[in-house]
Amino acid sequence: MKTFTLPGTQLTVPNVVLGLMRIQEKTDEEVRTLIKTARDAGISFFDHADVYGSGPHGCEKRFAEAMRLTSSEREQVVLQTKAGIVGDGPYFDFSYEHIIESVDGSLAALGTDYIDILLLHRPDALVEPDEVARAFDELSASGKVRSFGVSNHTPGQIELLRKSVSQPIVANQLQLSVTHAPLVAQGVAANMQALEQSVSRDSGTLDYCRLNDITVQAWSPFQAGFFSGVFLGSPEYPELNAVIDRLAAQYSVPAIAIATAWITRHPAQMQVVLGTTSPERVAGAALGSDLPLTRAEWYELFRAAGYTVP
Ligand SMILES: NC(=O)c1ccc[n+]([C@@H]2O[C@H](COP(=O)([O-])OP(=O)(O)OC[C@H]3O[C@@H](n4cnc5c(N)ncnc54)[C@H](OP(=O)(O)O)[C@@H]3O)[C@@H](O)[C@H]2O)c1
Repeated sequence: MKTFTLPGTQLTVPNVVLGLMRIQEKTDEEVRTLIKTARDAGISFFDHADVYGSGPHGCEKRFAEAMRLTSSEREQVVLQTKAGIVGDGPYFDFSYEHIIESVDGSLAALGTDYIDILLLHRPDALVEPDEVARAFDELSASGKVRSFGVSNHTPGQIELLRKSVSQPIVANQLQLSVTHAPLVAQGVAANMQALEQSVSRDSGTLDYCRLNDITVQAWSPFQAGFFSGVFLGSPEYPELNAVIDRLAAQYSVPAIAIATAWITRHPAQMQVVLGTTSPERVAGAALGSDLPLTRAEWYELFRAAGYTVP
């Protein structure tokens, strides 16, 4: 497993991490097997959110109840969680009160006294950066949160926060898979009037993150679209799967490793946030951590996914 020091932190992190959004209905034994498989593959970084699960902090609780981490086990893993979505709506809330209440709820649910990284989940149209800064300062001073980041944020939204927030923004978690790649694809087609792909949907977020040492974390790395099912093995993507299967045979890895490698091969040094609850798929995806796709192979996958290389 490839690891690196997450810029803005002292943390050594893997470039493939495990999201735990889908573990609510899993038994203790299933959660333990999933986490053990991940740990054995070098995945020591787990992504949560207060809203994952059937009720507030549901998946965080499921994880803690199944794992019952000792304090030394806790120190060996990175626990990231998110605040800012109110599920009962839904709507977004970056107020001081909401952020503090959410973190306290996550600490209790996770059974820990600190969160390694807290992300603001989705941009709140009513954000007041000074309030966010007050919450971050308090959480940082009390030791409840060690580092801060965002998710689904544009450069302008991050700049607005940075005007008030004194801690570095270390991560931006964004939807990215080879079939859902506007982050990457727009730049490839820049300035091409006839191509829909040239339309900027995020104001250059990927370049901004690279310029500012903000690590991009790719969520839904195998979903074709917005929770529309995976592209791997899907009859809707025959050309893409043919290329994936050929490269999988060539590198002697499962197909899921090639889909993972399409993201890890990007020089932005992104983290792939897996969402599978299958230990076998986790182990397979981990094999894509350091798989050196050539430029020709990377672009072939991109074209086969339907993107234009003008
Ligand atoms: N920041 C955000 O706004 C945001 C939004 C969504 C998600 N996330 C994070 O990103 C993580 C990943 O999201 P995701 O679960 O949508 O991503 P994903 O890894 O692309 O999708 C995993 C889902 O696809 C299913 N699946 C079916 N066939 C599969 C195959 N061949 N290979 C892999 N998976 C297959 C999995 O089922 P099985 O479990 O049966 O394998 C699972 O339900 C989440 O856990 C969460 O931590 C963040």
